[in-house]
Amino acid sequence: MSVINFWLDFALLVVFMLMGWEAASLQFLLPPPTLSAGWTLFGLTYDQWRDIQFGTLCLFAFGVVFHVMLHWNWVCSVVTAQILRTKERPDEGKQTIIGVATLIVLLHVIGAGVILSLFFVHAAPPPP
Ligand code: HEM
Repeated sequence: MSVINFWLDFALLVVFMLMGWEAASLQFLLPPPTLSAGWTLFGLTYDQWRDIQFGTLCLFAFGVVFHVMLHWNWVCSVVTAQILRTKERPDEGKQTIIGVATLIVLLHVIGAGVILSLFFVHAAPPPP
């Protein structure tokens, strides 16, 4: 298990550094997106890099979910013993249900945020 944790943590670190490199390159090397028409970085446009950046973020999120899943027993133990200060620990089955429920709640919070954003999107006015 330690070896799986090690390689997963290593992969997380690499993907996190990749996200940092992508963000810094787009932030400091290319002009702002509205002015970057015609510019390329390694032959790819800003729009293509933005898609790659989103893909990397999804990969990272997937890795973090897996990482926390492997430490879920630790999370449940800390919450029950240190935060709630109860003696009773949830069994494996209950921990899994709490874990899946937590993931569903978190995904819905993100979904609700995206729905909220929908109400505040404004298309650019037509050119004069
Ligand atoms: C760049 C991303 C990350 C890296 C490289 C990383 C790396 C590590 C390492 C090396 C450990 C200890 C070894 C192990 O048991 O696996 C660990 C433990 C842990 N990580 Fe992460 N981690 C990252 C992100 C996260 C995130 C985003 C969360 C929570 C949302 C998280 C939650 C935890 C938990 C709960 C533990 C167990 C703590 C313990 O046993 O004391 N990690 N992480």
